[in-house]
Amino acid sequence: MLHFEDNYLSLRKISCMQVVHLSAECFPVAKVGGLGDVVGALPKYLNKTEGMNAMVVMPFVENKFTKTHLLTVDFEMRLPFGNRNLQVKILKNTDLGFNLYLVQIEGFAYRENVYGYRNDPYFFTAFQVATLNWIHQWTHLPDVIHCHDFHTGFVPFMMKHAHQFPRFRNIPSVFTIHNANYQGQMPWDVVDYFPWFNTWDLPLLEWDNTLNAMASAIKCAWRVTTVSPQYMRELMEGNLGLAPLFQQEWQKCSGILNGIDTEEWNPETDKRLDHNYNIENVKEGKRRNKNQICEAFKLNPEYPLISFIGRFVDQKGADVLSDAIWQAIREFDAKMSFLIIGSGDPQLSNGLEQMKIFTDGRFNCFIGYNENLARKVYAASDFLVMPSRFEPCGLNQFYALRYGTIPIVRTVGGLLDSVQDINDENGNGIRFIHLNTHDLLHAFHRAGQVFDEKEKLQILREFIMNQDFSWEKSAKKYIELYEKL
Ligand code: GLC
Repeated sequence: MLHFEDNYLSLRKISCMQVVHLSAECFPVAKVGGLGDVVGALPKYLNKTEGMNAMVVMPFVENKFTKTHLLTVDFEMRLPFGNRNLQVKILKNTDLGFNLYLVQIEGFAYRENVYGYRNDPYFFTAFQVATLNWIHQWTHLPDVIHCHDFHTGFVPFMMKHAHQFPRFRNIPSVFTIHNANYQGQMPWDVVDYFPWFNTWDLPLLEWDNTLNAMASAIKCAWRVTTVSPQYMRELMEGNLGLAPLFQQEWQKCSGILNGIDTEEWNPETDKRLDHNYNIENVKEGKRRNKNQICEAFKLNPEYPLISFIGRFVDQKGADVLSDAIWQAIREFDAKMSFLIIGSGDPQLSNGLEQMKIFTDGRFNCFIGYNENLARKVYAASDFLVMPSRFEPCGLNQFYALRYGTIPIVRTVGGLLDSVQDINDENGNGIRFIHLNTHDLLHAFHRAGQVFDEKEKLQILREFIMNQDFSWEKSAKKYIELYEKL
């Protein structure tokens, strides 16, 4: 009987489509940006589909999460390079919705953070080689290996060309680009970690005379996706140096818009909020959350509250935003409350702290990253502004919509794909085209008008809270892609 059950189980497993996701980040274990959110949610939603079995493999990080959760060693081996020991640990008994494996390689000092160490290129290369060594000896190989961003960009090459991995030749690889500004240009000596391959294959690893992990993945993966269709278009025309490569490989390139985990992000059940609400009592719910935040940040709750949440990096455009807020208050005496939550560029952080003093209680900021506060601010704000220079997808606009907060976005990448202007059909936000103070001031002005028309505001809030940006839709598109492969 037991024998039969064993067979039955293994048959079931074989008839499943198994997808292995490789990523540097995965929420809640380790997250730096949106990549972590996506890899923490997509597999869970894939697994909700009958016949799908998705799992995640990431490098081991020594942080609060891994210290407080039970990890058991699932597999151990000696690696062919440097005679190092490899341990694959599995995270058991969690409600993640997928199996999570952490790869730990001897000889690399414990890392608390995901990135930012001098040996990053070597570390991520070793991670990829080690992971493939492990997977290659499975009895049943996965049906698809799905790599995310440049930290896993050498995998498609190695699957196709490393002599050591003959069993991978017919296994499809998918490479998803979350941010093409980080391409993984590396010193050539990381190739020392690679398993043996033919020297004439070397050009598949380079772009512009340097080793480039992202370029290699675009050349070698079976399919390449970006996290929104518009971002793919921008990369094909763009100035990031990879445009000719994308044009060359266009047949295997497409964009699939990200979703959000609507169970994790739900104003009705969000434990981080003191005042939960839903579409029925959104007006009252938002008022309470707004009062709380405005009190904490000494802002006037009678004014529309326009917030920004994000990192202070070039991509997010917070520098231009701060100029626009300054002008709105100092030159145009705008009756608005502005709040910025984020960290990054120290110069901008200092500037914002200074700005508080001169903005008459209409602007405040919190320098740092605090998930609890961020949630409260989504719930409290009337508008969320995203003045991105570029935005592969952006997730904050989805979070905002889910919390009944109207997004104000620049028309780039995923923002263009997900936010329609309120003047157009199915409008769910305010769009502006150019990243300058003029366009931002105009957008603020329009926000003020929406805020003053209380009835329209209410209808709009209900409309956006009803929109569906959950992973279910996007997960289906990934499954279609896997099935084609
Ligand atoms: C990166 C991008 C962001 C995207 C996220 C998840 O962080 O900058 O636009 O939403 O990845 O794909």
